[in-house]
Amino acid sequence: MSVSQVVSPVRTGDASGDRIQRYSLGERVNHWIGGLFYIYCLVTGLGFWSPYMFWMVVLVGGGPAARFWHPWLGLVFFASVCWMCKLWFRDMVITPEDRAWHAAIDHYIRNEDEDLPPIWRFNWGQKIFFWLMFYGAILLLISGCGLWWVESIPWSLRWLRYLSVTVHVTAALATIGGFIIHVYMGTAMVRGGFTSIIRGEVSAAWAKTHHRLWYEQVRKGTAGRE
Ligand code: HEM
Repeated sequence: MSVSQVVSPVRTGDASGDRIQRYSLGERVNHWIGGLFYIYCLVTGLGFWSPYMFWMVVLVGGGPAARFWHPWLGLVFFASVCWMCKLWFRDMVITPEDRAWHAAIDHYIRNEDEDLPPIWRFNWGQKIFFWLMFYGAILLLISGCGLWWVESIPWSLRWLRYLSVTVHVTAALATIGGFIIHVYMGTAMVRGGFTSIIRGEVSAAWAKTHHRLWYEQVRKGTAGRE
């Protein structure tokens, strides 16, 4: 069964007359596993990074527990990103339509959605965020392993220790920047987006306004099959 298809007919209270499935249950569960474990790593990681933020570590159980769980739950976050990649890879490839949308991004900033070129399931910004998290997670994993087993890195190769710290912090800060924008866009900016990642569905009007090509695909029943 395709993840992107019309799941139910007319519903009361919905001006467009029907609802469209945007996220399957598996997509939503995986998204929230990734979100939860990312936040845990973010809070504990910031606490390890600066004494000014250590109070956050105290809130989630204290230093020793955080030092134990941070790398393991980081692995769960990485696994969730890999699963996300398997689910959404094809939807996240940047297309010529995304380039046209990006060229007209001023309309997006001014909330003139009707003047934007039509796009598929995700917009250019969502795709950039996805790839930022994907490559960020890979760098966090590799550099995190360097920090996990730091004592196994011989002193003669100590540049690897310095490199691990630098890459881990840089990748963490880059993903935190993306994450803040993602949460802001998903909860405060784009109405209807947050309920879609909770309940899995959006109104046809929402799909038509924000993701017209995807909407037409869903209508024709060809979404996820191209
Ligand atoms: C915990 C806080 C989070 C909130 C409130 C949140 C919110 C949302 C919302 C509302 C959507 C649906 C947007 C739409 O379909 O228009 C979404 C999708 C998505 N989320 Fe999250 N998210 C969170 C954490 C994360 C994390 C940590 C990742 C990193 C892997 C992530 C990756 C994605 C991706 C790749 C999508 C699909 C494309 C996009 O909308 O950007 N989310 N999220």
